Amino acid sequence: MMAVLFRFSLVLAVFAGCLNAQQIVNGQIYTPGIALVDSPQPNTPEGGDFLQVALDVTSDGQLALPPYPTNPNSAIWNITIFLSSYTTGYNFTISNGTATANNASLGEIMAQEPSSTVKHVNWVWPDCLVGDGASSDNSSARGAYNISIRQNFRLNGTNMYTIFDLPIKVTNSIPAESNRPACDSLNNPLLDQATLNASANNFTRIVGTAIQGNSGSGSSSNGLGGAGMLDWKTSVHAIWILAFVFMVLL
Ligand SMILES: *[C@@H]1O[C@H](CO)[C@@H](O)[C@H](O)[C@H]1NC(C)=O
Ligand SMILES: *[C@@H]1O[C@H](CO)[C@@H](O)[C@H](O)[C@H]1NC(C)=O
Ligand SMILES: *[C@@H]1O[C@H](CO)[C@@H](O)[C@H](O)[C@H]1NC(C)=O
Ligand SMILES: *[C@@H]1O[C@H](CO)[C@@H](O)[C@H](O)[C@H]1NC(C)=O
Ligand SMILES: *[C@@H]1O[C@H](CO)[C@@H](O)[C@H](O)[C@H]1NC(C)=O
Ligand SMILES: *[C@@H]1O[C@H](CO)[C@@H](O)[C@H](O)[C@H]1NC(C)=O
Ligand SMILES: *[C@@H]1O[C@H](CO)[C@@H](O)[C@H](O)[C@H]1NC(C)=O
Ligand SMILES: *[C@@H]1O[C@H](CO)[C@@H](O)[C@H](O)[C@H]1NC(C)=O
Ligand SMILES: *[C@@H]1O[C@H](CO)[C@@H](O)[C@H](O)[C@H]1NC(C)=O
Repeated sequence: MMAVLFRFSLVLAVFAGCLNAQQIVNGQIYTPGIALVDSPQPNTPEGGDFLQVALDVTSDGQLALPPYPTNPNSAIWNITIFLSSYTTGYNFTISNGTATANNASLGEIMAQEPSSTVKHVNWVWPDCLVGDGASSDNSSARGAYNISIRQNFRLNGTNMYTIFDLPIKVTNSIPAESNRPACDSLNNPLLDQATLNASANNFTRIVGTAIQGNSGSGSSSNGLGGAGMLDWKTSVHAIWILAFVFMVLL
């Protein structure tokens, strides 16, 4: 019985302290916007050569890829991403829409891999994050960060801007390489939470709610695919079954 339930891989995610608590369904994180985060999962220890982020910008096929028609019902206008931390004090540009030399910061995410519903963000870690393990003192830039994903989008005829902070830990090994940009070249001032809060729309994407698509822009143009909706209703149902099971176990 539990095995069957876990096939849904459902977790009611409560990201303590996040601007928006969001749900994870079958490993996909519902952002307060149209994009779904396929990876990484919250609190993943990160390292390696690149930071990699995979974003489904069609919300699992509910919205067709750009180019959007004029005056669309729904669209993602652009996505900016920063890697920021109130712990280390850094706020690096991953993408602000304009690539810098050697793609130290990346160009518009929505414009990359034009035929792919999933945008694979590969960002070279800057030099001050080189190292291994958790930092033992406060002199290191390594440690807790948010991948801060900002969407300018239009949903059902309303333009919105939202901020989604996905927590990660920069604690795995990052090797020194000659191509690593200087941290200072990517760093931005950190704004306080109240300022950020005031700059963004308060919006929560409820799992299972439809997105009005754009007529004549492809197979998912009506955005109300029958199979998808059925899956989601099943999934939402499973959240409650799982919650009930946990209550029984406690
Ligand atoms: C991540 O963002 C949340 C707000 O969304 C904030 O409360 C938290 O302090 C941030 N984490 C770090 C390491 O800055
Ligand atoms: C993103 O889209 C919004 C709305 O169209 C626009 O105001 C903003 O300048 C765009 N930002 C970038 C970085 O392209
Ligand atoms: C930067 O990334 C873009 C998109 O992936 C690619 O077309 C371009 O060649 C890259 N530029 C450099 C200098 O690596
Ligand atoms: C390191 O930073 C933490 C959080 O800002 C602080 O509580 C701690 O005292 C600092 N430690 C040192 C050695 O500066
Ligand atoms: C985008 O980010 C890069 C790297 O941080 C910076 O040099 C550039 O000035 C930024 N552009 C805008 C328009 O903010
Ligand atoms: C990080 O810098 C960018 C660009 O200046 C800004 O839009 C964003 O709000 C900053 N993030 C934080 C957490 O202050
Ligand atoms: C964000 O703004 C709302 C409404 O103004 C407020 O209730 C909430 O406490 C604010 N959150 C933060 C983190 O400032
Ligand atoms: C933000 O949205 C949530 C859910 O829609 C709502 O419960 C809450 O009252 C809103 N907060 C503000 C300050 O509008
Ligand atoms: C968007 O519109 C669809 C169809 O009219 C509706 O079912 C859905 O609830 C709306 N979504 C949001 C987030 O308001």
